[in-house]
Amino acid sequence: DPGAAVRISVMGCGYLGAVHAAAMASLGHDVVGLDVDTAKVADLAAGRAPFFEPGLGELLAEGARSGQLHFSSDVAALTAAEVHFLCVGTPQRRGENSADLRHVDAAVAQLLPHLKPGDLVVGKSTVPVGTAERIAEQVRAVEPAATLVWNPEFLREGHAVADTLAPDRLVYGVPEGPAGERAVAVLNRVYGKAVAEGTPVVVTDLTTAQLVKVAANSFLATKISFINAMAELCEATGGDVVQLAEAIGYDARIGRRFLNAGLGFGGGCLPKDIRAFMARAGELGVDQALTFLREVDAINMRRRVRMVDLAREECGGSLAGRRVAVLGAAFKPDSDDVRDSPALSVAAQMSLQGADVVVTDPQAIANASAKWPDLVFAETVEETVRGAELVLLLTEWPEYVALDPARVRTLVRRPRVLDGRNALDAETWRAAGWSYRALGRR
Ligand code: UGA
Repeated sequence: DPGAAVRISVMGCGYLGAVHAAAMASLGHDVVGLDVDTAKVADLAAGRAPFFEPGLGELLAEGARSGQLHFSSDVAALTAAEVHFLCVGTPQRRGENSADLRHVDAAVAQLLPHLKPGDLVVGKSTVPVGTAERIAEQVRAVEPAATLVWNPEFLREGHAVADTLAPDRLVYGVPEGPAGERAVAVLNRVYGKAVAEGTPVVVTDLTTAQLVKVAANSFLATKISFINAMAELCEATGGDVVQLAEAIGYDARIGRRFLNAGLGFGGGCLPKDIRAFMARAGELGVDQALTFLREVDAINMRRRVRMVDLAREECGGSLAGRRVAVLGAAFKPDSDDVRDSPALSVAAQMSLQGADVVVTDPQAIANASAKWPDLVFAETVEETVRGAELVLLLTEWPEYVALDPARVRTLVRRPRVLDGRNALDAETWRAAGWSYRALGRR
C-alpha cells in the first residue's frame, strides 16, 4: 500500500537525525530515533529540541502527542523498524582534511546484528565516495535480503524542517535490479507527500548519490568564495561587491542566491566537506580535479584575516587594550551552531591581539562559551556595545540588522562599525553619525 505508514529507525540524532526523525513522524510514519548521547535522547523524548532549530520543538511535541515518535539509546529499539536511516556525523579528522568515519562505522556495527530480510538501510550522512559500497558489502554479508541505498540530505540549518518536508529534490542511490526497484518504491512511500507534491526524484547508483552531495556543497562553497574573491578585487580598486553581486545575479544562469560577500562560510558542513572531498580525490588519484577547492578554502580563510586587519586599522594600528564589541557567534543566523564559526574565529584572533572583546549572540552563547572559554560573552546587545570603540557585525541575525544606529550610538564610546556580512544599511548608519566600513565596499 503506497499510503501506508513505514516503521522507521533513525541512527544519530544530531542536527540531521533529530530533524529527520521528527519530520518523518509528522508525515505519519512510526519512528524511533537512536543516539548514544543519553542526555540528548532524554531531551528529545521529552519533546525538547536539544539545539536551536526553528519549528523542531513543535514537531517533537506533535510526535510525542501522536505516539508515533520515540527516542532511545538502546539499539534494540530499532528491531521493529523496516527502514533504517544512518544520520550520524562525519566530522573532519583531527589534523587532517579527510572525514572521520568512526560514527558511521559504529552505527553500522550496531545495526548489522538486528537486520531482517527485506530491511532497507538508507545512508544520509555525508561520506567520502566509496563508503556506501563498503557498507553495502557489510549488509550483504550478514543479511543478503536487506538492501543498502544512499539518499543524501541537503537541509540547511535554520531551515531544516522546511528543507526536510519540502526538499528541492530527492536523490535515491540504489543498486541495479529488483532490490533497487523495491527500494525506490519504499523510499517513495517514506517521502510520499513530497513525491505527490511533485518534488523531482533523481534515481541513480550509489556512487553518484554520494558524489551529488559533495558536489552540491562544493558548488555552494565555490559560489561564496567567488564573490569573496571579487570582494578582494573591489577592495583593491574601490569597487562595490554588493552592487557587483546584484548586477551579475540578474543573469539567471548565475543567480543572486549564495552570492553574499562577507566573512565567508563556516559551519559543520561546507568547510569540512570540501576538505574531505579533496582528500578523497587525492586517494583516488584525481587530486588535480579538485585543486580549485584549495583556492576556495584559502579565499574563505583570507576573509577572516582581512576582517581582523580592518579592525586593527580602525583602531589606529593596534588592537591592544581596545574595547571591541562582536555581534554574532553562530556560524550563521537562525542557528546555535558554532562549529567553524567565522565570527568566533575573528573574535578569538582580535582577543589574541590584545583587544578587550565582548561577544553576544541570541542563541549560541552556551555553545560558544563551552568551545571558547577564554572569550567574554554578554547576553544583551547593550552590555556588549557599552563603551566599545569598535562594533563588528559578524553574524547577520535579523535583530542585529534591525538595530537602531542612533540608539546604539548612545552606548558606545566611538561610533565605528564594521559590517562583516554586508547586512547593515550603510546610509542609515552613516546618517546616524557612524563610520561604516564593510568587506568589499568603499
Ligand atoms: C549547507 C548547505 O547549504 C546545505 O544544502 C547542506 O545540506 C548542508 O550544508 C549540509 O551539508 O548538511 P548549512 O551549513 O546549514 O548548509 O549552511 P548554509 O546556509 O549553506 O551556510 C553556510 C555558510 O556560508 C554560513 O557560514 C553562511 O554565513 C555562509 N554564506 C552563505 C555566505 O557567506 N554567503 C552566502 O551567500 C551564503
